Amino acid sequence: MCSSAKLHKTRVETFSFARPAKTGRAASLGRLQLDGMKICSTNSEVRAASDDARAQGKRLGLVPTMGALHEGHLSLVRAAREQCDVVTVSIFVNPTQFGPTEDLSKYPRQFERDRQLLEKEGVEVLFAPSVEEIYPAGGATTWVVVEGLSERLDGRSRPGHFRGVTTIVAKLFHIVEPEAAFFGQKDAAQLAVIRRMVLDLNFRVRIVACPIVREPDGLAMSSRNAYLNPEERGRALVLQGSLQRAQQRFRAGERIAARLISSGQEVFAGEPLVGLDYFEIVDPDTLESVERISERALIAVAAYVGSTRLIDNLVLEVGTE
Ligand code: PAJ
Repeated sequence: MCSSAKLHKTRVETFSFARPAKTGRAASLGRLQLDGMKICSTNSEVRAASDDARAQGKRLGLVPTMGALHEGHLSLVRAAREQCDVVTVSIFVNPTQFGPTEDLSKYPRQFERDRQLLEKEGVEVLFAPSVEEIYPAGGATTWVVVEGLSERLDGRSRPGHFRGVTTIVAKLFHIVEPEAAFFGQKDAAQLAVIRRMVLDLNFRVRIVACPIVREPDGLAMSSRNAYLNPEERGRALVLQGSLQRAQQRFRAGERIAARLISSGQEVFAGEPLVGLDYFEIVDPDTLESVERISERALIAVAAYVGSTRLIDNLVLEVGTE
């Protein structure tokens, strides 16, 4: 059943996506009181909600997430609200993108808190399906695989991870059929793999990339930061520190990737309790290593802080740095 959090509507066909003016207290109160947020747990419910939005001539935006929402996720929601008339957020901890030794069972799940946050943001539709709804056969039998890119960066350290991501994102695109979908630059490799999938398979969706949102001390926000104890939380700053060191050398004129990589790796040498997974400089679209930076390049880092795997990145651009 689809339900509206504030004002219960029994038939999805009767739901109106009228959105009041975006500014002003009265307007935002009006939005909450009049519209509420529709919560869908089945494919057919969310499909009906999408059909309704389209029938009303609304532009539909999708923000796919795995929940445990933080300001990074909410920045995507706000971008979607700016660019679209109706925003659907999905919360689904997707089992097919977790490896056998990864943190699927302990991945943070806080549905009620997430629901409240999304309602406050004025989200129209929350799609929160069960694993059975998404994988009725018990798992994926048909996979979407972006060859090449899926084996680079996180794909090398997490075999099968991107196959799970592209499969679930393709399914969400088919189910929700958004005009635009919003992803964070935080997961730069994921973004490149999804963009390529959309290009290769002619999905009719616009992919919007949103900047990385950070904690005040620079740590990139992540649902996995919740796993860090206070000591690890301090050590986690080494990721951003290493990127900044390489960026400083780039700004000072260094263009040889190997030298920039060494300067970043040196920062990890001073933090032996953090296990570096990779520190790479790649083309942002193909994720292939570059030797010399001539236009744009992505510096991406992944490291284990205790048992928690964290990632971060930044884009270097010749001419603008
Ligand atoms: P999740 O890790 O929940 O992230 C959902 C979206 O939020 C992703 O697009 C991610 O890049 C973005 N995001 C996370 N932290 C961010 C930050 N600090 N700043 C900006 N954006 C941030 O990524 C996934 O879920 C899954 O792989 C998913 C795409 C939902 C498929 O299951």
